[in-house]
Amino acid sequence: MRTMASIFSLIASEFIVLTVLSSFVIGENQDFVRTLDSKLYGLKLKKEKLTHFRVYWHDIYSPPNPTAMSIVRPPSNTSATLFGSISMIDDPLTEKPELSSKLVGKAQGFYGSASQQELGLLMAMNFVFLEGKYNGSTISILGRNKVFSDVREMPVIGGSGLFRFARGYAQASTHSVDLKTGDAVVEYNVYVLHY
Ligand SMILES: *[C@@H]1O[C@H](CO)[C@@H](O)[C@H](O)[C@H]1NC(C)=O
Ligand SMILES: *[C@@H]1O[C@H](CO)[C@@H](O)[C@H](O)[C@H]1NC(C)=O
Repeated sequence: MRTMASIFSLIASEFIVLTVLSSFVIGENQDFVRTLDSKLYGLKLKKEKLTHFRVYWHDIYSPPNPTAMSIVRPPSNTSATLFGSISMIDDPLTEKPELSSKLVGKAQGFYGSASQQELGLLMAMNFVFLEGKYNGSTISILGRNKVFSDVREMPVIGGSGLFRFARGYAQASTHSVDLKTGDAVVEYNVYVLHY
């Protein structure tokens, strides 16, 4: 049986371990990590902005210029949701629903069927903007896309360039779809907080 003293010494040693670990994590200034003055990075000086984009996402499987390609076929013949299949995309993002309208960016990434019961995709993609001051900046979207719902919401989990420290959400709604080819045009409304 443990004595009171041995329990205390056990607690004391765990406390020391925790203290060492937390000083490591919070770490004032270790060689590989340092605390920065956020003012020097222009973050405290600026207020966070909320930006809204509306773009049309064109997923094109049809020849001659497909922008989406199946890279993993469904592992089973019997899954109605094509569970396990994955497509890679480099989809145009345009200002209007027509593909011929102004190109404002690309959606690059992949999506896969992640649900066995209903058509639910895991989306993992970067929106790379190509226009004006946003040229070269990106936002990263990672979320669940239940494609037959009217509006699907996916988190914006980060960004680069003008969208550093971005967070927010995207709402996707299908504009048109061709069930034979799989081609689809989806309206994306994206709301992001960034500096
Ligand atoms: C899928 O079905 C085809 C015939 O339609 C068959 O030749 C093939 O072996 C099946 N594949 C799997 C993984 O069950
Ligand atoms: C966006 O940036 C690229 C490379 O920096 C440049 O070639 C292109 O002309 C720019 N596009 C616009 C619309 O400014």
